[in-house]
Amino acid sequence: MANSDLSIILPLLGVACWLMLRTKRFNRIYPPGPPSWPLIGNLFRLPAKHPWLRFTEWKETYGRLVYLHGPGVSILLLNDVELVAELFEKRPGIYSDRPRFTVAGDLLELDKLMPLRMHDHGWKLQRKLSRTAMSLDAVKKYHPLLEDIAALLGESLREDPDAFEHHTRLAVSRVILAVTYRIPVATSDNEHVVLAEEAMKVISKATNPGAYLADLFPILKQPHALWFRNEIQRDKRIVQDSLNKPFDHVKKAIAEGSALPSLAKKLLVHEDDKEFVDRHEYEDTVKWLTGSLYLALQVNAVVLTTLLAMAMNPDKQARAQEEIDTVVGTHRVPTLGDKGSLPYVEAFIKEATRWQPPVPLSLGRQTSRDDVWEGYFIPAGTIVFPNIWAISRDGGGKYPAKEFLPERFLDSDPPLDPNSYTFGSGRRICPGNILAEHSVFIFVASILAAFDVSPETDDNGNPIAYNPQFSSGLISFPEDFKCKIQLRSAERGVQVRDRAAAVASYIT
Ligand code: HEM
Repeated sequence: MANSDLSIILPLLGVACWLMLRTKRFNRIYPPGPPSWPLIGNLFRLPAKHPWLRFTEWKETYGRLVYLHGPGVSILLLNDVELVAELFEKRPGIYSDRPRFTVAGDLLELDKLMPLRMHDHGWKLQRKLSRTAMSLDAVKKYHPLLEDIAALLGESLREDPDAFEHHTRLAVSRVILAVTYRIPVATSDNEHVVLAEEAMKVISKATNPGAYLADLFPILKQPHALWFRNEIQRDKRIVQDSLNKPFDHVKKAIAEGSALPSLAKKLLVHEDDKEFVDRHEYEDTVKWLTGSLYLALQVNAVVLTTLLAMAMNPDKQARAQEEIDTVVGTHRVPTLGDKGSLPYVEAFIKEATRWQPPVPLSLGRQTSRDDVWEGYFIPAGTIVFPNIWAISRDGGGKYPAKEFLPERFLDSDPPLDPNSYTFGSGRRICPGNILAEHSVFIFVASILAAFDVSPETDDNGNPIAYNPQFSSGLISFPEDFKCKIQLRSAERGVQVRDRAAAVASYIT
């Protein structure tokens, strides 16, 4: 071909390519969202606090799919449960990664924790091991342990009811440290409890978009710009200690022949080595998996919300107590064997979880490649949040969504069971859902059986009305609230004391 031909063809080809790209780009229809400005988009409309409330208002305006974008960042909100299933369950190859955070991932190395890990080979191995430990059969083996911890919770509430928040936190820490490592916990200043709680604070902060400037401007992670180096080093040490110390405790006990049954022991002793390169890789996987289970601390959000709901709804509380007195009787405390025979108590817990979902935006996902859904373009790297808050408000019908009405779940046409959305969905559904459900049940049923929970009273003896507030982070806890927790009868007091005295010593 002559040079003169090329000089005509090449520019023409260039123009054709440019036109093609341009047309493709301009043809893309992004999902609807709040008004945006050129260059900066609409991400500045992201509310700083309780974003799920604004997101749920946007659902009314823009529909079930809402899109926000800014320079280099895009966020997609999924406002109904069918849509979440459509994307997370039917397109797992695109919607199963987690968002990448510069500080959490590159600096704190938290991205080896299962909840923050990409959808990679290491995640699959952790997930496989977690199934061994968290299946229904496995959780049933922990029932005596959960009942013992509930008994200790009852005794602490009897002795010092005002410190209820402290007691429920301790009970949940005991569950996780006992199940995972069989570490006894006498008081909440136990080194492992403190480390677990500190580690959760580090994780919550590091996964809060915008908490660190380095997440918005990755250049700042370079060492010369690390004015926050000390903070990062301290946080990294907390996370490492929270993983290593309990893990080493179990390894030492195994070596000495004194290890009691625990999840870590089970996995370390029965190595499932087919998919692992070597023993070191296997142990590392077990360590990061067991450390991931600190996420269980969110169980306390549900227990506290249920307590608040009892205080705010005395008639519903009385109905749940009546059910326990009739089905279980007044001569003993409830056990996990009673789960299934106490529909109103279960409806009460479901309603508390629906009324104030503990993880209102679930844990975000990130698209691993471009996708198109019903004509809308969803770019690779989009952070996707299922709006669990909005989902929990769906299907009110004759039971208004704002009201606390456990009866809605006993109706012949009940709304969606909150257990079907509270724990997420698809490949990354919460692996601890059964342990969580059973722990919450035994704590709540034990409290309902033995105690009356009521609001504080003013100087004239009138109940003080609540204006409940919930925290705004990844996990939404009821914020400082007060209530009176009193034994229902002297007989119940004796039962609580005797049951606690019979608790196995390995828990404390
Ligand atoms: C009421 C208590 C709990 C709630 C509301 C809850 C909720 C959630 C949610 C919404 C997710 C994200 C799921 C998704 O991306 O679709 C999740 C993930 C996870 N949860 Fe839970 N959870 C609870 C208790 C527990 C417990 C007891 C454990 C462990 C013993 C646990 C361990 C985990 C782990 C390891 C993940 C990450 C899974 C992954 O990324 O593959 N959670 N949880």
